[in-house]
Amino acid sequence: MIPLRIGAIAGAGALLACLAIYLRAAQAPDGPRDIEARISDLLGRMTLEEKIGQMSQAPFGPLTDQVKAEIRQGRWGSFFNAASPADRAEAQRIATQESRLHIPLLIGQDVIHGYETVFPIPLGQSASWDPELVRQAARIAAREAAQAGIDWAFSPMVDVARDPRWGRIAEGAGEDPYLASAMAAAITRGYQGERLSAPDSIAACVKHYVGYGAAEGGRDYNATWIPEVLLRNVYLKPFHAAREAGAATFMSAFNTINGIPATGDEFTLRQVLRQEWKFDGLVVSDYNAVREMVAHGYAAEDADAALRAIRAGVEMEMFSTTYWDHAPKLVAAGKLDPKLIDQAVRDILRVKFRLGLFDGRAAAPVSAPKSTPEALAIARQLAVESTVLLKNDGALPLRKSIAKLAVVGFLADSKVDQNGTWAMTGGATTITPLAALRQALGPRRVVYAQGLKGSADTSRGGFAAAVEAARSSDAVLLFLGEEAAMSGEATSRAYLDLPGLQPELAAALAKTGKPVIVILMAGRPTTFHEVAAGVNAVLYGWAPGAMGGPAIADLIFGDAVPSGRLPVTFPRTVGQVPIYYDHLSTGRPPALTGPAATDKYRSKYIDVSFTPEYPFGYGLSYTKFDYSGVRVSPAEVKLGGSFTVSGEIANTGEREADEVVQLYTHQMAGSEARPVRELKGFERIHLKPGEKRTVTFRLTTDDLAFWNPEMKLAAEPAAFEAWVAPDSASGEKASFRIVK
Ligand code: NOJ
Repeated sequence: MIPLRIGAIAGAGALLACLAIYLRAAQAPDGPRDIEARISDLLGRMTLEEKIGQMSQAPFGPLTDQVKAEIRQGRWGSFFNAASPADRAEAQRIATQESRLHIPLLIGQDVIHGYETVFPIPLGQSASWDPELVRQAARIAAREAAQAGIDWAFSPMVDVARDPRWGRIAEGAGEDPYLASAMAAAITRGYQGERLSAPDSIAACVKHYVGYGAAEGGRDYNATWIPEVLLRNVYLKPFHAAREAGAATFMSAFNTINGIPATGDEFTLRQVLRQEWKFDGLVVSDYNAVREMVAHGYAAEDADAALRAIRAGVEMEMFSTTYWDHAPKLVAAGKLDPKLIDQAVRDILRVKFRLGLFDGRAAAPVSAPKSTPEALAIARQLAVESTVLLKNDGALPLRKSIAKLAVVGFLADSKVDQNGTWAMTGGATTITPLAALRQALGPRRVVYAQGLKGSADTSRGGFAAAVEAARSSDAVLLFLGEEAAMSGEATSRAYLDLPGLQPELAAALAKTGKPVIVILMAGRPTTFHEVAAGVNAVLYGWAPGAMGGPAIADLIFGDAVPSGRLPVTFPRTVGQVPIYYDHLSTGRPPALTGPAATDKYRSKYIDVSFTPEYPFGYGLSYTKFDYSGVRVSPAEVKLGGSFTVSGEIANTGEREADEVVQLYTHQMAGSEARPVRELKGFERIHLKPGEKRTVTFRLTTDDLAFWNPEMKLAAEPAAFEAWVAPDSASGEKASFRIVK
């Protein structure tokens, strides 16, 4: 008997072990069928209040007894921003161990351009035209944030922005849907990694859905009017790219689109996002955006706002509490279909399951991360590649043997400002340009003068010392621009000039006759025509992040060669705004040469040129690249077929360097007027002096498809031009044709 019993027990044990393995495999957090079954099980056991709790998100204040009690009650599905790693872990412990159904929290944060390691601001990253490096930076941000107990980044911000008055232009990828799509996909992949449930992955939140960047007058939160054809051909594109890259969540925007608040817009949220794009993640509102539908003059009161946001498919409410306050009553009154609540909670729980929060992640140990040498190396490389050389009369690069270098400007030594907007957590490792230059040359060869204490400084009291520093030196590095607080949210400007007395300071230094090199840090395109005309070189560094100092030193001394290219057009004056490269031609296009140049009745200004100060895609190098031999093969392509566009690029200068080769096309006629040029490809290449390379872009006619007036996405038989070019305003072109 006894052996039998042992055998039976052993057999049962083996069976149980097999069952456990089977169950674990069946419950693998990424297995869609099992996730749905687990969600159904939970939904069946949740009260209506617990469901609305999941749909509610609050800022992470101190973890008081009151907040702990609310977590136990299931009052919140998510918290965001602030709180220490320890508080996050404790909040998760309470949610998963002490709440009735043990549902973990989703913990979000504005991880925008790095967590502990601060990378350049997103607009700067976009200027690198290097999606792979940008992906690597996002991966590091994910690793650091996940270590600190964060599951979710409110990024990438992919709002196409064509108005530099809008301060939030700093947070996106610039004006172009193709470049922005490449960045959107890269950042999403970086955060989410190979597997969302991996311990070092976090969920991306693509924002602000949609149209936010088209704010009238460049004034933040303002209304937008975007015809569907423009919405689809421009503004939706990067969102779609992020969705295709697997983005787990979206954030609805503050603005109205054609009179409907984005947070209550069934067309963009239900029809486009859910039905057309088959998105099955969660949509969170922006901060207070549900309640703000009342201020918009759209919802009558909070209850109406809740009803319309939930109906539109905004599943989690950030900050305002209209769902908690009103959804139960709306359901009881028969106004709100409880199926919509279940659907919302299902989508929220699905993201939590996909992140592995139910399968160990919520209990994983957390700690404050430190920047690794690898992270700092990537931050440095990205800052190098982001910086755009706009002017150089030969003053750059400087010789390291220079006897004395004057460094002028408050931005040469301001960690906060070089880190830029939304650098919430990190910055411990930030090295300023002044520190890096002192390190490179030794402190005695660098003489520093602030000149001005900040852009609001109205005193010229510091000018004399700055001029004296310049006179006693062999060259001047003049740091100008905007403080971090001048870009990002709620920082619209009506003037784009360098703020305050900075242009005067530049003029005073230029008068010394010493070579003056301006390094401009700003979160947007600024206008500085006179300043640039009076100095020898201009480098545009945006807000370059923690390693901005060493990166600028690398570029100044030629240890690295500038290779950033503008992700947005720089106007000559704010009066040209909006100005962007992929505009329509008009019936009376202006011209610089030929009879049209002197024709008054053209689409231009009488007081300033119609051309920008610097075009999209522009940037200089310390070497010279020549473009030739542009050809399209075959020159006649069947609709649905593929073709190549290639060109030869030669490094005819004396330094090895990167070049960003850009492909643009133009459809000459069709069912609607098409932009004069559209970016369709780009490649960063590295060439030695004397080296020549053929760069070949492979396309299909689908790459030339656009949303036509019937709202169909299709390519059309037509004549085309293609440019292989160093920027959007130059390059060689070739003709080709799409035929039926
Ligand atoms: C408002 C901003 O518009 C959004 O970008 C951000 O993610 C949220 N606040 C949360 O801080």
